Amino acid sequence: MASEVRGVVATAVGEPVRVVTIVVPDPGPGEAVVQVQACGVCHTDLHYREGGINDEFPFLLGHEAAGVVEAVGPDVTVVGPGDFVVLNWRAVCGNCRSCRRGRPQYCFATHNATQRMTLLDGTPLSPALGIGAFADKTLVAAGQCTKVDPAARPEAVGLLGCGVMAGLGSAMLTGEVGPGDSVAVFGCGGVGCAAVAGAVLAGASTVIAVDLDPRKLELARQFGATDVVDASSGDVVAAVQALTGGNGADVCIEAVGKPTVLEQAFYARDLAGTVVQVGVPTPDMRIDLPMIDFFGRGGRLQPSWYGDCLPSRDFPMLVDLYLQGRLDLDRFVSETIGLEDVEEAFHRMERGEVLRSVVVL
Ligand SMILES: NC(=O)c1ccc[n+]([C@@H]2O[C@H](COP(=O)([O-])OP(=O)(O)OC[C@H]3O[C@@H](n4cnc5c(N)ncnc54)[C@H](O)[C@@H]3O)[C@@H](O)[C@H]2O)c1
Ligand SMILES: [Zn+2]
Ligand SMILES: [Zn+2]
Repeated sequence: MASEVRGVVATAVGEPVRVVTIVVPDPGPGEAVVQVQACGVCHTDLHYREGGINDEFPFLLGHEAAGVVEAVGPDVTVVGPGDFVVLNWRAVCGNCRSCRRGRPQYCFATHNATQRMTLLDGTPLSPALGIGAFADKTLVAAGQCTKVDPAARPEAVGLLGCGVMAGLGSAMLTGEVGPGDSVAVFGCGGVGCAAVAGAVLAGASTVIAVDLDPRKLELARQFGATDVVDASSGDVVAAVQALTGGNGADVCIEAVGKPTVLEQAFYARDLAGTVVQVGVPTPDMRIDLPMIDFFGRGGRLQPSWYGDCLPSRDFPMLVDLYLQGRLDLDRFVSETIGLEDVEEAFHRMERGEVLRSVVVL
């Protein structure tokens, strides 16, 4: 029987979000219903609320979540009731032109639930990133559930479901950071601090954190940054060069989503180095680079979607590192809040006061 539970819904552009009753259908073929235990507040949720993603209101927000599978559809074998899972937005299809070429991390046809969750009056909800986890329960595709070690704290490991994975992967997977590399991370919010942590895990010997906000630079140090650059004063490119023997960093990671910052990352990079762009731009943004600099500096400019992760491969491994004390996911949890506090958490995020507010259910 379908369940009626609480969910955080955005009904119109700029309207404060509200906790309302939503209807979660029983899982059909290929689907799972998950009892959500924790869900982080991400910028993308706010982008939905502001109409910045699409206009398919009402949205059921929340997508960085962990919980326990309650029920699965008749044909589902990958997970079962009682499994502790982290939700993902990359349930790969195995069949699209990218999957068939052995590149499932770029899957062009990822799976979401087929049925819709609704409001009480039957209005279909659009779940954020196909998840919608600011709710007591949510309906997803079974492939969106990645089973991990149940000893882990849901508030911490749920964050692997989006921003923290994007940051870790931007360094470890997209940027291919290796032992002895120098890395500069531009923007040290949740994503950038995760990029710092990923660079450290991958063996980088110099990890430079760049941000306008001294609070974020201090957090980046706690994640293992060896040097910090205050971007609010002075020449950022020159500062990164000075910290890397005058050469620039092997890997520069843009984790803000601004043209000026991408340009700094481009020029703060050593010859034949890599620029990774993980910050998400808005449609009006443009970059203008002399073509001779693009050619003459060599290397690569590489966008990173979700840190090029494969949830089934990467989430269990990262949860193991967390449980071994080698990846401090707890430090990303700035505060735990209730479902009714999401709107206030958006404001705290805008004021730069938190890495992540996490709703606990
Ligand atoms: N590529 C992906 O798959 C993916 C996934 C999740 C999030 N993101 C994106 O990553 C970006 C960062 O997300 P977040 O949650 O860390 O956001 P955030 O707002 O917490 O962090 C952004 C940081 O950038 C700093 N900053 C702003 N302007 C700057 C400048 N000019 N120079 C240096 N630092 C500056 C801010 O002080 C802040 O610390 C966003 O654009 C988000 O949409 C991308
Ligand atoms: Zn595919
Ligand atoms: Zn997110």
